[in-house]
Amino acid sequence: MNSSARRTSLLSLTALLSLAVACGSPDDCRSLDCSQEASDCTLAQTASQAGFWVGAAVPGDVSDPRMEAVVTHFNSITAENAMKWGELAPRVGDYDFGQADALVDFAHANGLRLRGHTLVWGKFPGHGYPAELRDLMAQASEPADLMREILAEHIRTVVGRYAGRVASWDVVNEPLALLGPALELNVFSEALGADYIAEAFHTAHAADPEAMLFLNENLLSYTDAKARAFVELVAGLLDDGVPVHGVGIQAHLFLSVPPPEDFRAYLEELADLGVTVELTEVDVAKAAIRSWEDTERPIFDAQADVYRSLVAACLALPGCRGATFWGIDDEHTWLDSFGLSAADAPNEPLLLDMQLRPKPAYFALRDVIAERIAN
Ligand code: XIL
Repeated sequence: MNSSARRTSLLSLTALLSLAVACGSPDDCRSLDCSQEASDCTLAQTASQAGFWVGAAVPGDVSDPRMEAVVTHFNSITAENAMKWGELAPRVGDYDFGQADALVDFAHANGLRLRGHTLVWGKFPGHGYPAELRDLMAQASEPADLMREILAEHIRTVVGRYAGRVASWDVVNEPLALLGPALELNVFSEALGADYIAEAFHTAHAADPEAMLFLNENLLSYTDAKARAFVELVAGLLDDGVPVHGVGIQAHLFLSVPPPEDFRAYLEELADLGVTVELTEVDVAKAAIRSWEDTERPIFDAQADVYRSLVAACLALPGCRGATFWGIDDEHTWLDSFGLSAADAPNEPLLLDMQLRPKPAYFALRDVIAERIAN
């Protein structure tokens, strides 16, 4: 069988095995008791019974054949790229909602939650935000006023369009500098200072008062100055009455694996601020595991332990509601082309292998999430 025929037959097998997961909320799936019949349940079914979200970052094209596996194995999706400002509007105000609309429709048709990612991100002109924004600021006589207007208009347009259909938004992504602890200097903070963050949340809240609004950040350590600065940023916003409902921790592990107790303590500290916590972009590259564990055992068994410990840290907190993985399968991962990890390709950092078969990490998560149903 050639590889495309093999893929097609695997997909139909996946479809046959799929037990029609269609849950409006994580509490809806009751066909099997996944605490008792764990091995008959998909990760999605188990998570839904546990009241937990397991998500995948998905491509913009809903006709991608891998979307079938998404419906089988996950109960939540995030657009990997398609809802970022620079992708929606290569020029300011000139939107193409084709892919984003199709993803929102796909999520609803298949009973998946969709996390909106992301309204404001100061990285990657032309992707995170429209490339011309910087020129517009340079030419403006009152850059702060113009930025305020453009930012609010964008958030109202996108959040308003999906009001009632997109349950949560990463309102601001990666507010801190890569190595922290200061705020990142970007086109938004240069125009408005730190206020761009609060303004973005207030505007999003007005556009959809029901949506859960998240501040999403990427940390390389959970004990360093950047980690401290992020807690202080969230606490400060809450003190100021800014409608931040949730905090997203990306957890891209491609350099190293954090000590489990540090990770757990950090999530707890965030939850203690009174916000919901989610793991929003998890991937665990082989190179990070090798730097963490010096044994001969199979790498995917070690990877399963890392995944289990990350998600167990979240499950231990009532305020931690879900974990999203940054991709569907090992053949398609941003880490294989991203500058800091491309040299280690194939990174194989995800829950499904290149043939869309569940890996040890998938089963480890299913088991650890099933324990929550039992309790
Ligand atoms: C990445 C995508 O995976 C890539 O396809 C794209 O080229 C760049 O962005 N933090 C984030 C995500 O918040 O949006 C990024 O996604 C990965 C890092």
